[in-house]
Amino acid sequence: MTPKAYTHKDAVPYRPVDWTGLYPPAYEKGTVPHHVAIVMDGNGRWANRRGLTRVEGHKAGEAALLDVVAGAIQAGVKHLSVYAFSTENWSRSPDEVRFLMGFNRDVLHRRRDQLNEWGVRVRWAGRRPRLWSSVIKELQYAEQLTADNDVLTLTMCVNYGGRVELVDAMKQIAEEVAAGRVRPSAVSEKLIRRHLYLPDMPDVDLFVRSSGEQRTSNFLLWESAYAEFVFLDTLWPDFSRQDLWEAIDRYLGRNRRFGGAVDTPHVARGGNA
Ligand code: IPE
Ligand code: IPE
Ligand code: MG
Repeated sequence: MTPKAYTHKDAVPYRPVDWTGLYPPAYEKGTVPHHVAIVMDGNGRWANRRGLTRVEGHKAGEAALLDVVAGAIQAGVKHLSVYAFSTENWSRSPDEVRFLMGFNRDVLHRRRDQLNEWGVRVRWAGRRPRLWSSVIKELQYAEQLTADNDVLTLTMCVNYGGRVELVDAMKQIAEEVAAGRVRPSAVSEKLIRRHLYLPDMPDVDLFVRSSGEQRTSNFLLWESAYAEFVFLDTLWPDFSRQDLWEAIDRYLGRNRRFGGAVDTPHVARGGNA
């Protein structure tokens, strides 16, 4: 069943991407990270520090997401992947899990028209088992609605885990090998990539995590093999497009080598350039 059509009665007011009047710096052409991945972390701490329950923090994170999507569009980022619910988050209290499921469904419902208007293509990466069917329906509806957009691809990672993504890929490959369709010697990086949830998702260039934690927590493991990591202390509900631009600034100061090396003894002693 298709979810109920969105009506402007429940609408959040439409806004242009630059409604804050803030603009990113003028980046040099071709330098902006093509794919930014964000672990939206710190909602619970944000709320608890204010004497509120954890779910209030999740609620406050919705505006941060919208602001960051707008800021990514302004910066010229083409792919933004956000970690909304991990395969490990099922271990939270039943109340919090229930809230997060309903909340993800409602945010998609409330925001899809705004995202569509901005030219955002919404996609889902994650696992079906356990995920509420109402969440899957909203994800699929948003995917259909926005399928032709090309300003920015927003991948909602819901019931996503980097390890199970690889497990699922390995299972499919094992089946193909067992059926004689693939020779074991033909298993390659390219073949594995073709079996990931979104085979055409580009590698992550910039991996950002809010809230001061410095770990991946199982996010986009394969895709982030050569990502630059930026950890910011801001808690997710306080996170804004300016934090994203700060992360991009730090990224632009990095020297990505991809295993290569350039001999520059004349540049500096002990330098990293
Ligand atoms: C991130 O915030 C949101 C989800 C994991 C769904 P947390 O809920 O992890 O907040 P902290 O890390 O406990 O502060
Ligand atoms: C990662 O954050 C998952 C999401 C942001 C959805 P967690 O808060 O669940 O990760 P840990 O528990 O700190 O590693
Ligand atoms: Mg957390």
